[in-house]
Amino acid sequence: MVRKAVLPVAGFGSRMLPASKSIPKEMLPVVDRPAIEYVVKEAVRAGIKEIVLVSHSSKTAIEDYFDTHFELEHQLEMKGKDSLLAEMRNILPGDVSVIAVRQHQALGLGHAVACAAPVVGNEPFAVLLPDVLVDCDGTEEDLAAMVRRYETTGAAQIMVEAVPAERVNQYGIVALEGADPAPGASASMVAIVEKPAINEAPSRLSVVGRYVLPAEIMGMLAATPPGAGNEIQLTDAIASLLQHAPVEAYAMQGRTFDCGNKLGYLEAVFHYAARHPDMGESVRAMMKTWIS
Ligand code: G1P
Repeated sequence: MVRKAVLPVAGFGSRMLPASKSIPKEMLPVVDRPAIEYVVKEAVRAGIKEIVLVSHSSKTAIEDYFDTHFELEHQLEMKGKDSLLAEMRNILPGDVSVIAVRQHQALGLGHAVACAAPVVGNEPFAVLLPDVLVDCDGTEEDLAAMVRRYETTGAAQIMVEAVPAERVNQYGIVALEGADPAPGASASMVAIVEKPAINEAPSRLSVVGRYVLPAEIMGMLAATPPGAGNEIQLTDAIASLLQHAPVEAYAMQGRTFDCGNKLGYLEAVFHYAARHPDMGESVRAMMKTWIS
C-alpha cells in the first residue's frame, strides 16, 4: 500500500522573486489558500496518510500551516465564527500526519528525496513536486490512478505528458517500449534521461512531477553521482531502477500548472478562481468585463 508521500520544498524559488523572498513560494496563495494545500490534498485524495516535507530552515511556515493554531482557533471560537473555525480545523483529515525533515545542502531533487529515506523506510511512496498543480476533471485523478496501478502491478509509475520538441531540454524525458499510452494508461519504460539536448531526446514525453516509487529507489539514490546541472537527479536513479525492476510511464489526463514561474502561477490563479465553489461565478463575470 502506498501511504507516504515525499514533497521536496527546500528550494528558494528564485523564479518567483521578489514574492518568494521572505515567504516560501509554496505558501503563495492560489485564490484563497497556499499552493501547497492543493498538492497535499491531491496526495490525501490518492490515499496518502503521511506527508513528508523535505524542507529548509527558512521554510517552516509550510509545516506551521498544517499544524494546529491554538490561539487563532480559540479566538474564532470566542467570536462564534464556527464555519471558519471548522475550516481551519479540517484543512487535513485527522488521520493524515505531516512530518518535516531537512535538506541541509541544495544538491538536487534526487538528494532531496533521499533525505526522506529514514521516514519512508521500507515502503513504496509517492513523490509530488509542489511547483506543479494538477487539476483533473471528473475522471479518477491522476495520482490516485498511479497509486492504484502501482498497487495492482508493482511497477513504478512516472507521470508524463508530451511537450513541444523545443522544450525537451527542460524536463526528464522518457523512452517507451511501444506506442505512447492513452491518457490514464501506463506503458513500459525502457529509458529516462534528465534534460537531454533537443537532438538527443528519446521522445517528447516529459516527466511532470508525480512519481510512485518502490523503497529500493532510496538505495539507488544513495549511489547516484551528480548528473545534469551537477545535481543528484531523481531521473538518474529511476534509470538505474528500470534496469532490474518494472517502471512505467503513466500518461496524465488532467491539466498541469507550473507554479514555479510567474506566468504558470498566474494561470493557476485564474483557473482556480474561475472554478472556485463560492467565488467562481463572480470571478467569471469579472473576467468577461476584462476582455470586452
Ligand atoms: C524536475 C525533474 C524533471 C521533471 C521536472 C518536472 O526538474 O528533475 O525530470 O521533468 O522537475 O517539473 P526541475 O524542474 O526541478 O528542473
